[in-house]
Amino acid sequence: MAYTTLIVDRKDDGIAVITVNRPDKLNALNAQVIGELDAAIAELDADASVRGLIVTGSGEKAFVAGADISELAKATPIEARALALRGQRVFDRLERFRGPVIAAVNGFALGGGCELALACHIRIASDNARLGTPEVKLGLICGYGGTQRLPRLVGRGRALEILLSGEMVGAEEALRIGLVNRVVAKEALLNEAMGLMKKMLANAPLSLQYAIDAVNAGLDMSFEDAQDHEATLFGVLASTSDMAEGTSAFLEKRPAKFVGK
Ligand code: COA
Repeated sequence: MAYTTLIVDRKDDGIAVITVNRPDKLNALNAQVIGELDAAIAELDADASVRGLIVTGSGEKAFVAGADISELAKATPIEARALALRGQRVFDRLERFRGPVIAAVNGFALGGGCELALACHIRIASDNARLGTPEVKLGLICGYGGTQRLPRLVGRGRALEILLSGEMVGAEEALRIGLVNRVVAKEALLNEAMGLMKKMLANAPLSLQYAIDAVNAGLDMSFEDAQDHEATLFGVLASTSDMAEGTSAFLEKRPAKFVGK
């Protein structure tokens, strides 16, 4: 599919890079971007050659500076609710992608942009990145899952400080509180994300898929149910040829060759 607000680039080794591409509006998420993100995630999910996603923003300044405020300003209550539900569904789909999803946070990640980064499995930030949820300064709150994902990631107290102050958190502080996994020089950001992705993709594909599922699904279950789900996935993996290959390769002291079955 042709996209006008995204650049979707299938790289070598099963990695696809989605770049939100409205640099003149700091990559703000209008309805078209959200619709195209939805379509791109579905398209890449259906493409077995794609095993991992990197999400980033176009230009020097911003990852994504939020939902598009010019659209929000006109929304009726009914429309605003529908907008939030739509964004939540798209970000949920990203979070449930069958392979790893890394946010390469290359500048401002505010509001919906911060929520987009939160829906990715791993966040790597450039040293100039600034993250935050300034919706309270607009008379709003997060509407794309941020009030739920942020406390799950950094804890209730730190999440509420970010959500209630609306202040931006710099890259180093974001690293300290666990909001991002790594901080690198901005020139090195995409290489760092590609390098980490390649390391992860060297592992058994179904193991990656099930580890993501165990974490995602488990966080919404009781500890007991989540462990039961983990055990089921563990059992299913024991039926795969990749498990036979991985364990044999270890015992035979050779590198494993995984096929994703
Ligand atoms: N929605 C719509 N347009 C946005 C936007 C958003 N969330 N964020 C930035 N833009 C637009 C600006 O309106 C401006 O457009 P213009 O050139 O047509 O006037 C352009 O992007 C550049 O932004 P500008 O504000 O001039 O850049 P800056 O460097 O002075 O400030 C920010 C950068 C990120 C601090 C500032 O743009 C900002 O506060 N953005 C809104 C952040 C926000 O509240 N996000 C949550 C939304 S729910």
